[in-house]
Amino acid sequence: MSYQIGSYRLKSKLLLAPMAGITDRPYRDVCRQYGAGLTSSEMITSDLSLIHTKKSQQRLPQRNEPGPRAAQIVGTEPEIMAEAARFNVAHGAHIIDINMGCPAKKVCNKAAGSALMQDINLVKKILHEVVNAVDVPVTLKIRTGWAKTKRNALTVAKIAEDAGIASLAVHGRTRNQGYTGYAEFETIRQIKKSLSIPILANGDIKTVEDAYFIFDYTNVDGLMLGRISHGRPWIFKEINDILLNNSPITPIPIKEKKTTAISHIDAIHRYYGTDQGVRIARKHIGWYLSNLVGHKADLLKPLTREIFPISDANEQLEKLDETLNSLWT
Ligand SMILES: Cc1cc2nc3c(=O)[nH]c(=O)nc-3n(C[C@H](O)[C@H](O)[C@H](O)COP(=O)(O)O)c2cc1C
Repeated sequence: MSYQIGSYRLKSKLLLAPMAGITDRPYRDVCRQYGAGLTSSEMITSDLSLIHTKKSQQRLPQRNEPGPRAAQIVGTEPEIMAEAARFNVAHGAHIIDINMGCPAKKVCNKAAGSALMQDINLVKKILHEVVNAVDVPVTLKIRTGWAKTKRNALTVAKIAEDAGIASLAVHGRTRNQGYTGYAEFETIRQIKKSLSIPILANGDIKTVEDAYFIFDYTNVDGLMLGRISHGRPWIFKEINDILLNNSPITPIPIKEKKTTAISHIDAIHRYYGTDQGVRIARKHIGWYLSNLVGHKADLLKPLTREIFPISDANEQLEKLDETLNSLWT
């Protein structure tokens, strides 16, 4: 039932994928509530000169957040990343995750994120330095490689295991694919076959059936879910029910889904303050609506057109509440 990272036995084999701009504290809380075994922070710069900005502070795992708390660091210099790992542990992280999966240009221009997979010696140095810098488990997230003809995830995975990485998440796409095209799971299956550390499969898990197929095909120890959870945090419970507990999905009452959406948006307002909160909440409202109005899809555009311009937090909540209630009357 569980997934092991160092001494941490997680409650579920389903982990939330780190997503910059999305997996903030309120998002992590709501996914944990529905059974995510671990929820990592959004990626955090290793440049400690930037760490005191409001944005970086909001991204750190929070001291009052239930454990285990994972902080994902991104960077390019082994010593600087080691220092960043120490900083995050000193500030309450229980697990350090290294990002070698992000394809974003502003990360890759500095040869960080998935660009690191092009430089095996640098990968070795980073993993070695970070693992030795902290006495908490260090995990790694990679892609299958840089490009279709440069799929070196298995090599990187073996280096990771040798360096003492405690768990490896593999997104079944190359860096060049960005988030397009299909994820591929053969590489992940090979990695699982060749390594002894726990492996997570990630990418393109869009339905409960996908989760079932990928888990079975790759034989991995757990799954990492990203976009499927947008506006649908209860997906963790649904997949846990069917895949891991071998029981039929217990449908989540619509009333509970509505309450979850409202309390998530309220938590965003409280976490960021109302001005920033209202802006950040919009994308989540869009996702909740598109999930919850599935049965009345033609209503989606007019509804979002009404809610999105609202700039007052209370009004935004009231309108969402009114909208959700109107959909089932
Ligand atoms: C908006 C967005 C932000 C992301 N930010 C990060 C990040 O900060 N760190 C990271 O390792 N991966 C990041 N990813 C990649 C996801 O963790 C995940 O690997 C990817 O979305 C594929 O999984 P999915 O198909 O389940 O969404 C991001 C993805 C998206 C869509």
